Amino acid sequence: MTLTIICGGFWGDEGKGKILSHLALVDKPSIVARAGVGPNAGHTIFFKGKEYKLRLIPSGFINPDTRLLIGAGVLINTKVLFKEIEDTKSQSKLGIDYQVGIIEDKHIEMDSKNKHLSGKIGSTGSGTGPANMDRAMRSLKIARDIPELQEFLTDVSTEINDALDQGENVLAEGSQATFLSLYHGTYPYVTSKDTTSSAICSDIGVGPKKVDEVIVVMKSFITRVGTGELPGELSEEETIEKGWVEYGAVTGRLRRAAPFNFELAKKAVRINSATQIALTKLDIVYPKIAKSNNVDNLKGEALEFIDTIEAKTRCKVTLIGTGPGTEDIIDLREN
Ligand code: IMP
Ligand code: MG
Repeated sequence: MTLTIICGGFWGDEGKGKILSHLALVDKPSIVARAGVGPNAGHTIFFKGKEYKLRLIPSGFINPDTRLLIGAGVLINTKVLFKEIEDTKSQSKLGIDYQVGIIEDKHIEMDSKNKHLSGKIGSTGSGTGPANMDRAMRSLKIARDIPELQEFLTDVSTEINDALDQGENVLAEGSQATFLSLYHGTYPYVTSKDTTSSAICSDIGVGPKKVDEVIVVMKSFITRVGTGELPGELSEEETIEKGWVEYGAVTGRLRRAAPFNFELAKKAVRINSATQIALTKLDIVYPKIAKSNNVDNLKGEALEFIDTIEAKTRCKVTLIGTGPGTEDIIDLREN
């Protein structure tokens, strides 16, 4: 039995969706459980020529045998949810915890109209901050109050703990990332709750002693949407020149970019007690590795880069993304 947690290493958009979709196919988890804040996330999966940008449905939907769960700590927007259920055809596989929080129109309105949130903090406008505020006030609606959700309701914590007790594999899908954590991030330019591996456990209702692996996902360069510090930030021209241009999956905003930062990587490994690093988009920085699945193609500067990450963080790089597709990956994990 293995419980593996996937969490973001920097400011989100590290490619968690891509890593999760690979693991969902290869490790054949009986459950992929979505943790994290809510639909402010956008996890991109490129599978069989089709691109999915998912804000709520777990990235493991590409495995037909995997149960998809949304943990109690997560917030949902039912409109976004039903659209994604349709896009991913996951109605029969989905379970939503009774206590998942419900984002209403008033939360979205406040997130986009409130100058502090939309201006200073640069929120995604998805209503998650105001909904978590109401949750703290104990006035937020939860999934069990919503008639359209009744067919999906379940006790996610019990399902996961039972699966682990029966020796099955479970993947926990974190969203956002370490330095967007309300507690450990670049406050106040952060999201509305903790987003580290400990919070991911809490979101889905498992205790820390149940966790076997924590994979922290880091991109080969760093991006950030919204405001707040970004060490080594490049100008827009430099970002374009390097080919590091990306747009936000939820907001469509141009992402700010900076080179990989070893100090932040070390901190992220510690805060999350990472046992492995998944390094994505190595092909964008070192094009020779593009689409490779073979570790023998890792040479020269690309190999030095990985060796330096491992030396500075004292954590193994076990998964290396070499392209956008689920299959574009070098998997160095021991079986
Ligand atoms: P909020 O979580 O929508 O309130 O946004 C707060 C900050 O976190 C803003 O800078 C957002 O751009 C950022 N943020 C929230 N979720 C994500 C994510 O999934 N990826 C990247 N940035 C995010
Ligand atoms: Mg994203």
